[in-house]
Amino acid sequence: MSGLSQPHLLGIKNITRDDIELIFKTADNFKEVINRPIKKVPSLRDVTIANIFFENSTRTRLSFELAQKRLSADVVNFSASTSSVKKGETLLDTVNNILAMKVDMIVMRHASVGAPHFLAKHIKANIINAGDGTHEHPTQALLDAYSIREKLKAVKGKKVAIIGDILHSRVALSNIFALKKLGAEVLVCGPPTLLPKYIDQLGVNVEWNLLKALEWCDVANVLRIQLERQQIKYFPSLREYSLYYGITKKILDSLKKEIVLMHPGPINRGVELSSDAADSHHSIILDQVENGVAIRMAVMYLLAGAVS
Ligand code: CP
Repeated sequence: MSGLSQPHLLGIKNITRDDIELIFKTADNFKEVINRPIKKVPSLRDVTIANIFFENSTRTRLSFELAQKRLSADVVNFSASTSSVKKGETLLDTVNNILAMKVDMIVMRHASVGAPHFLAKHIKANIINAGDGTHEHPTQALLDAYSIREKLKAVKGKKVAIIGDILHSRVALSNIFALKKLGAEVLVCGPPTLLPKYIDQLGVNVEWNLLKALEWCDVANVLRIQLERQQIKYFPSLREYSLYYGITKKILDSLKKEIVLMHPGPINRGVELSSDAADSHHSIILDQVENGVAIRMAVMYLLAGAVS
């Protein structure tokens, strides 16, 4: 097996364009596998993977678990809310105890920025970051870019607008890194209070006006307002946010061209997207979810053979 250039997937910032292309090529094969009547291959038969989630998740957690099962890996699931973390056990002790049971790979979601990077310095298993606080969500960015490649036949040269709560979004940062590595043009759009101060250093365009952003782009990747990470008020009300930044089918249909509508989920219907937009022919939201399984199969398959 020819693997990735490194033994972990901690973020998109530190992987190469070649790594991304290899993940996409491998995912093409696995996408074919998961659309067969028998969706399973024996590729990771001797590999044991622990999914350790310290934050809520629907898509990422189920997608990783299905991907592991499709690859014939042995899987254990850990949920912080029902674990001995509640009795005061540290992250490192928790993970070392899981590894003592002969686990080879850790998939971790954690609310703290850098938690998977910290683990990577202290343990021997492969680590995949399934989202660390407001920092990175690398497999989401990979499946997003892969879905653009599938829909528009290429990522290079495409104009992608990332719209919404950029400040608190790990999806935004990982998407910016991935899309730029693949040669796309990126624009971020949202209220000024929800754009990070360092945005100028990321080489992206900035637009506050939603209609202008939509008129510019080929793809709109719309993000949720992350109220759970907001300690202060960044805009007067959700109603006002929706008035200025909510995307409806009427707005999409009024554009002079077709654009592709994406969302990483979970959607707050009626806030950043109306239901008729989310469910319209513009949307590839459920294709993103389908592609997530193939992308995660590819990442775990390649990491199992990575140079360590
Ligand atoms: N896109 C995403 O990370 O969704 P979940 O929080 O449900 O995993």
